[in-house]
Amino acid sequence: MSEIEDFQILKDGLDYKFFFNGKWKNSESGKIIPIRNPYNNELVGNIQACTKEEADRIIECARSNIECWNETPIRDRAEILREAAKLMLKWSKPLGSLLMKEIGKPIKSAISEITRTADIFNATADSASQISGETMMGDVFKGFTRETISMTYRVPLGVVLCIGPFNYPFNLTGSKIAPALLAGNSVVMKPPTQGALTPLHFGIILEKVGVPPGVFNIITGRGSEIGDYLTAHPKIDMISFTGSSETGKSLAKMAGMKPLLLELGGKDAAIVLNDANLDLVVKSIISGAFSFSGQRCTAVKRVLPMPNIADKLVENVTESTLKLTVGDPAENNTIGPLISSKQCDYVQGLIDDALEKGATLKCGNKREGNIMWPTILDHVTIDMRVAWEEPFGPVLPFIRVYSAEEAIQISNQSEYGLQGMIFTENIDLAFNIAQELDVGSVQINGKSSRGPDHFPFLGTKSSGLGTQGIKYSIEAMSRPKVVVMNLTEKGKLVRECKFEGN
Ligand code: NAP
Ligand code: G3H
Repeated sequence: MSEIEDFQILKDGLDYKFFFNGKWKNSESGKIIPIRNPYNNELVGNIQACTKEEADRIIECARSNIECWNETPIRDRAEILREAAKLMLKWSKPLGSLLMKEIGKPIKSAISEITRTADIFNATADSASQISGETMMGDVFKGFTRETISMTYRVPLGVVLCIGPFNYPFNLTGSKIAPALLAGNSVVMKPPTQGALTPLHFGIILEKVGVPPGVFNIITGRGSEIGDYLTAHPKIDMISFTGSSETGKSLAKMAGMKPLLLELGGKDAAIVLNDANLDLVVKSIISGAFSFSGQRCTAVKRVLPMPNIADKLVENVTESTLKLTVGDPAENNTIGPLISSKQCDYVQGLIDDALEKGATLKCGNKREGNIMWPTILDHVTIDMRVAWEEPFGPVLPFIRVYSAEEAIQISNQSEYGLQGMIFTENIDLAFNIAQELDVGSVQINGKSSRGPDHFPFLGTKSSGLGTQGIKYSIEAMSRPKVVVMNLTEKGKLVRECKFEGN
């Protein structure tokens, strides 16, 4: 089958289907949801608005396939992931191009989202040999003997529901699917509506490389319509979710006692001390704040500079910001459209509020369609919304501080706790500040970011629950199973133990 024919399986014209029990189907709802290019509003495709009854059938089917999949040797499951990675690499350009159209991500970043996902699949496969258990002897504990022995190994949780966000729709569903399948679970994936088309191709990829029908399934539809139903569904055994803190918190309420892995919003602050390497800071801040127009959970969302470096830093960051290219993602401009006009209105509201309250506009504050020019705000104070709210857009506030203690206090006052950054040549001080920051990870002399993908990635407070990262995700998607041997006297070797002295 040719590459193009492979891609035609999942749609009729622009109408994409959903994937259930190894087959592509139209929803019985008869309803479709249009996905438009956020840059030029062109229709990229339509997805099926699945019904709750279809959700029941998909979940039931996934459940009925767990045992066979778990009995497939893990080396075979790992090999399937490796083969899937090959197809992702082979198709990275057409998939990247589709991704670019549906979410407005610059074409180079869109293609690397696909190749990064292939890397995650390969690295997950490599982890197969690390999924191991342990044996313990009872005589460590008072009242027990060596005749009580526990054997612990890991088993899958069952049906894992994988829900991803619009900003990494392929990668942040893929980074859930790979560990879930390796650990022996079956999967129901619900992609974000805006960004659903590219992850739908996981259906083709995984079917082609030998994932049996029903082990991997995709349901499409708006989270506001089917999300709660899926989340609360009694036959879903675990939920791995990436998205906003608001949705994550509501999902946690609906989920009852299901194990959850939640990667949510952030307000990562860069603390810049007086002795920081200015060029390094500027480069890190520009790429950290403005890649994909600031639509990253780990974007640099606040800068807290100390007095001796603040003026020069604001000046240099502004100068570099003015050089960023703005426009069509197909031409690989750094700044492209935000995901929706609603999101642009929200970001504009943050800028307007800051300017009304006395912030200094250094550049930006301009909008055309869904494109917002990168905006630098200086002299931001803590009574302004932009000091605390996550813009998910290209706006960067500078909150000037007078001591490391003040920087720590403002960093920690946030409802979020994803990552923190410290820029300084004084590594001892950096380490001490890092210890004080209430976040999942601290970057010293680097921008906040999730990768490399085998590192633990987590957030405190409203930024998440549980830990992502290849080994950590596999652990979160499996559980220990303990078998205890209680040996009896029968068969015990009778011998007299006697210590021999010299
Ligand atoms: P979102 O609006 O919360 O949506 C995320 C996913 O949840 C989508 O698939 C959405 O489906 C689904 N959803 C919506 N309502 C639901 C419900 N009631 N039950 C279950 N699922 C539901 O987030 P987003 O706008 O796509 O992504 C941006 C946010 O994600 C930002 O806050 C960002 O910081 C965060 N994020 C965090 C990380 C991280 O690793 N910490 C990574 C990326 C993004 P629909 O699309 O159909 O509504
Ligand atoms: O948007 C949230 C992602 O987890 C960020 O990943 O730091 O590699 O861009 P990234």
